[in-house]
Amino acid sequence: MPKRPLHHRAGMSALSALSTLPATPAAPPSPDVATPLLGGLTPSQFMRRYWQKKPLLIRGAIPDAAAPLSRDALFELAASEDAESRLVSQIRGRWRLEHGPFDTDALPSVKRREWTLLVQGVDLHDDHARALLDRFRFVPDARLDDLMISYATDGGGVGPHFDSYDVFLLQVHGKRRWRISAQRDLTLKPGLPLKVLQHFEPEQEWLLEPGDMLYLPPHIAHDGVAEGECMTCSIGFRAPSANELIGQFLYYLAERGDTARTQAGERLYRDPHQSAVAHPAALPAALIDELGSILARVSWTERDLASFLGSYLSEPKSHVVFDAPDRPLGEAAFIRRAQTSGVRLDNKTALLYGTRSYFINGEESAFPRGRKWLFELADARRIEGKRFVTLSADRAMTALLYEWYCAGWVRVGASS
Ligand code: SIN
Ligand code: CO
Repeated sequence: MPKRPLHHRAGMSALSALSTLPATPAAPPSPDVATPLLGGLTPSQFMRRYWQKKPLLIRGAIPDAAAPLSRDALFELAASEDAESRLVSQIRGRWRLEHGPFDTDALPSVKRREWTLLVQGVDLHDDHARALLDRFRFVPDARLDDLMISYATDGGGVGPHFDSYDVFLLQVHGKRRWRISAQRDLTLKPGLPLKVLQHFEPEQEWLLEPGDMLYLPPHIAHDGVAEGECMTCSIGFRAPSANELIGQFLYYLAERGDTARTQAGERLYRDPHQSAVAHPAALPAALIDELGSILARVSWTERDLASFLGSYLSEPKSHVVFDAPDRPLGEAAFIRRAQTSGVRLDNKTALLYGTRSYFINGEESAFPRGRKWLFELADARRIEGKRFVTLSADRAMTALLYEWYCAGWVRVGASS
């Protein structure tokens, strides 16, 4: 497929990065400072009035916005095993869904209408995308999921649907017409490879241009159709279901092995009073009772809940692979470099903390003695060089950060 640049807009190409965004981790937004990102509201006001409650259209949320990465770079990412990508197209009015990776040559021609490529987790691979996601860290990291980028040709979209998650839809190139509805009827068309609403009754409609953004709470029906070639960033959130939490928490307790143990080891079912049966296929009532009494004895503390949540929510997604440095610096050289250029969390690293421990990439650890630097690193996702100089008297800190650097969890310097 021939590669050609996207349209040029007022001298700015979509090949450029978001001009207003540095490729370094941005400081977390301040909850009480009004921001154009939220239409002049403070994050606190936004959370009170709109979050999980009602949609909000924000014109010029990011003035001069451009795509965090070019169309070609997005196609390249979609060709890699490391990214989750999907291709949605309409062929003679029929929806078709394919899962990546896609060789660039396997994608439809950009001259063909009505197709869209969606690439999930772009923030894991691109510093500009990560910096864009950082602007939304007025919502806890535990809720922030990822940044997805969709590329569509004219008429492209994924059809009218609803999501179970909150989403900010930021237009970064070209135009997309969004129609939304708070309709109750969320019945889906049967037999399709993707979720498309049976009846869509749009109540509001807007044409979004680069820099405009639409916030949607869960279950608002929406349909975004590209008008010409366009790119949209979706900043998505996660909200585990009660079933998922119950299942994962019980699994976590069972893995730890302290729910049903005796001193002699794991507790096994015993049935010394079992009589001989004439119907061997029938489930023994005593076994059912036993399961009830095992479950009734499962108990946990608030500490178990926090340990589970921190570990579970900081767990990397299954396809995530950390890139350890090929030729790592020695510890002394690492410290010298960090004192000049600082350190930052790798884009794939999740670092959360509770009141008793911290969690990095799914592993829980007790706080180190001087724990303040850890909170700073987790909240800002970086430690500046100057600050590192002050902190580096703490040998336990430098040793731990060096370990994380060797594992590819931490990078030295402002950007890769
Ligand atoms: C898209 O970007 O095309 C779809 C995003 C969405 O509707 O959630
Ligand atoms: Co959606």
